Amino acid sequence: MFGQIFWLEFLVIILIFDPATFAEQNHEDHDLETERTANATNTLNLLLNSHDKRLRPKFGGRPVTVYVDLYIVDIGDISVTNMDYRMTMYFRQTWEDPRLRFNGTSQIVAQGDLLDKIWIPDTYFNSEKRSNFHEITKKNYVLIFWPNGTVFFSIRISVTGVCRMKLRKYPMDSQKCELNIVSYSYSEADAIYTWKRGHEHSIEQAPDISLPQMDLVKIQSSETTDVYSTGNYSRLSLTFTFKRRLSLFITETYIPSIIIVALSWISFWINYKAAPARVALCITTVLTMITLTAAVQNSLPRVTYTKYSDWILMLCLVYVFGALVEFAIINFHDSLETRKKDKLNRKLRNVDVEKGVCDGEGGDLKTKYLQRQLSSLREKIKSFGEQDINVQRIDSRSRILFPLTFLMINLMLWIYFVIDSAED
Ligand SMILES: *[C@@H]1O[C@H](CO)[C@@H](O)[C@H](O)[C@H]1NC(C)=O
Ligand SMILES: *[C@@H]1O[C@H](CO)[C@@H](O)[C@H](O)[C@H]1NC(C)=O
Ligand SMILES: *[C@@H]1O[C@H](CO)[C@@H](O)[C@H](O)[C@H]1NC(C)=O
Ligand SMILES: *[C@@H]1O[C@H](CO)[C@@H](O)[C@H](O)[C@H]1NC(C)=O
Repeated sequence: MFGQIFWLEFLVIILIFDPATFAEQNHEDHDLETERTANATNTLNLLLNSHDKRLRPKFGGRPVTVYVDLYIVDIGDISVTNMDYRMTMYFRQTWEDPRLRFNGTSQIVAQGDLLDKIWIPDTYFNSEKRSNFHEITKKNYVLIFWPNGTVFFSIRISVTGVCRMKLRKYPMDSQKCELNIVSYSYSEADAIYTWKRGHEHSIEQAPDISLPQMDLVKIQSSETTDVYSTGNYSRLSLTFTFKRRLSLFITETYIPSIIIVALSWISFWINYKAAPARVALCITTVLTMITLTAAVQNSLPRVTYTKYSDWILMLCLVYVFGALVEFAIINFHDSLETRKKDKLNRKLRNVDVEKGVCDGEGGDLKTKYLQRQLSSLREKIKSFGEQDINVQRIDSRSRILFPLTFLMINLMLWIYFVIDSAED
């Protein structure tokens, strides 16, 4: 049974791939391929032999129009400290070179050392720090020649572009980074750059571009002319708008700062007589807050203006410092009272002794006077017990006042941030 099926399958395979017809087809294909290769080689040799790569197409005549379009493969590494970003793209330029017209029906896709043999626009990226051209596994470029003289040149490059960031609204900022495409030697009289499919459609991007800290909101493109003393130059520009994700700041900085501030409030519940415990707690929170602020500052460039994050961190620092100051006030108050109390007690004892002496002598007037003084002193001392309650009242008020005002100022700051950052 199994053997029969096997032979049947074998027969079917032989019928489908008849070696005789297969070979014939192969032979025909081979001939055609050889002829086409020979024709293309001939054409390229003919084109390149007479080609002067030093001179632009239509030399001395109309300017050559370079049509540009690009595909963004990836955007990443937006660095706040270096104020730059990195982008990898397929950069495509199309232009017409009448010298490269040939007789034929289809385009020629060429590779190899052609880059050095034909005229190619000297395009460069203004506002770029460094760029590199990829050469693995071969130089990543392609040149396509059409019979009507149209040349298509696509290249894969990575560009590190400068992005002048304004950080006043950090961490609720959005950044605009611009990349300009210009010709180095050709003014408008010689070369004009335009987007190949209009402003909107000339830029494509990979669907899965995602940045760790920012969202790519939009990419805008425009065409302008720059006027220099050497002439007018055609320029294409590309503007990326990035919006920072707030969540990172919230989880890494804001929540820890709030916890530290709340920690400093715990000291209001600790008895003011336990000075070492309260001082240790307050000073630890102040130091931690300073360390946290320094960590945030180090991750950002040094700028002279105040950022949103500075306001928040400054507020937290003021509050933890406030808790320390509150304790200092209580402690000072307390020691002052103790000293006064000691003084009164001493006086009381003196008066008491004096009264005892007077009682023995029987001086009626003086005894009465001392009696009065004694009772007024006793009253004063009793009122000191109430002073102690006063000191504790500062603590119990702070327990409500500190969190309440902190919450309110925070709320006000965030409302201001939201309104202010929505302005642009
Ligand atoms: C090759 O070129 C010749 C003449 O130049 C032409 O007749 C022929 O059709 C071409 N072959 C192919 C496959 O295009
Ligand atoms: C293309 O064909 C035309 C006419 O058939 C001929 O005059 C011309 O020399 C050819 N050009 C090339 C580059 O072969
Ligand atoms: C040349 O041919 C290509 C492909 O057929 C076409 O896309 C292009 O518009 C042509 N260019 C001109 C100037 O006719
Ligand atoms: C450059 O452009 C300005 C105005 O846009 C024009 O007045 C000037 O003549 C142009 N210069 C050249 C060299 O074309």
